[in-house]
Amino acid sequence: MPTAVEEYLDLAIRLAREAGMYALAEQKKGLQIERKTNQFDLVTNVDKYNEAFIQSEVAKVFPDHEYLGEEGASTTTSSGVRWIVDPIDGTINFAHGLPIWCVSIGVEVNGVIECGVIYDATRDELFTGIRGGGAYLNRNRIRVSNVTDPGISLFITGFAYSIEKNEGKAIERFDAFLHRGLVVRRLGSAALDISYVACGRCDGFFEAGLSPWDSAAGSIILTEAGGKITHYDGGDYSIYRKGIIASNSLQHEMMREIINSV
Ligand code: IPD
Ligand code: CA
Ligand code: CA
Repeated sequence: MPTAVEEYLDLAIRLAREAGMYALAEQKKGLQIERKTNQFDLVTNVDKYNEAFIQSEVAKVFPDHEYLGEEGASTTTSSGVRWIVDPIDGTINFAHGLPIWCVSIGVEVNGVIECGVIYDATRDELFTGIRGGGAYLNRNRIRVSNVTDPGISLFITGFAYSIEKNEGKAIERFDAFLHRGLVVRRLGSAALDISYVACGRCDGFFEAGLSPWDSAAGSIILTEAGGKITHYDGGDYSIYRKGIIASNSLQHEMMREIINSV
């Protein structure tokens, strides 16, 4: 008999795959793109469709569960179980045809993220994690890297849509890594960024401003892969707090030191 959380994970996998495949098909046909808060903050017809699709499918199976999604969907119940969904993470890339985007679904039980799924339809890469059960990429167990030397490491960061306001000193912190000669990339999908730390493709990720749906699924995938996720001050990860460091754990304190040096 599967546990309740295993049932949530199975449903999340099915929905992330279906939403991802839908996105890929629609992208080929041409997208309808709108602007949200500013000229860079985009939403497509697929973001909206996927949000409605995932929410309604969850409600069919678990009508008493709560839902929190990026495109405005949210419901509150007393079940203690909440689905935290980014229907497309990396929308700017998606809208431009740059193949670095995904669907991200995390499930929280009584305030704790218990399982998560991140699906990259372009590469057919499915990242999953379940508390106590490990993290996987397409059914193969994944682990963070064991690199301790920042000089041979690959770091990733990201910037909020309102980067011109430089909230959380995002620009100076990026600059601090560069001034130490470290290699830093900006891929444009926080959920994939965290997944890539989890599977050892890179060694650490940091970003000043993220929303719950950007990191919820990634947080459990990463920790189940042996990684560490905290806030810039070292405080325990919360979906509601900004300033996230996700690392292979070996370089966490070093990253924190650089980030807090500005
Ligand atoms: C964004 C991406 C990006 C990150 C931004 C997010 P969206 O999410 O994850 O990498 O830097 O902070 O808002 O808008 O593409 O879902
Ligand atoms: Ca999104
Ligand atoms: Ca996002």
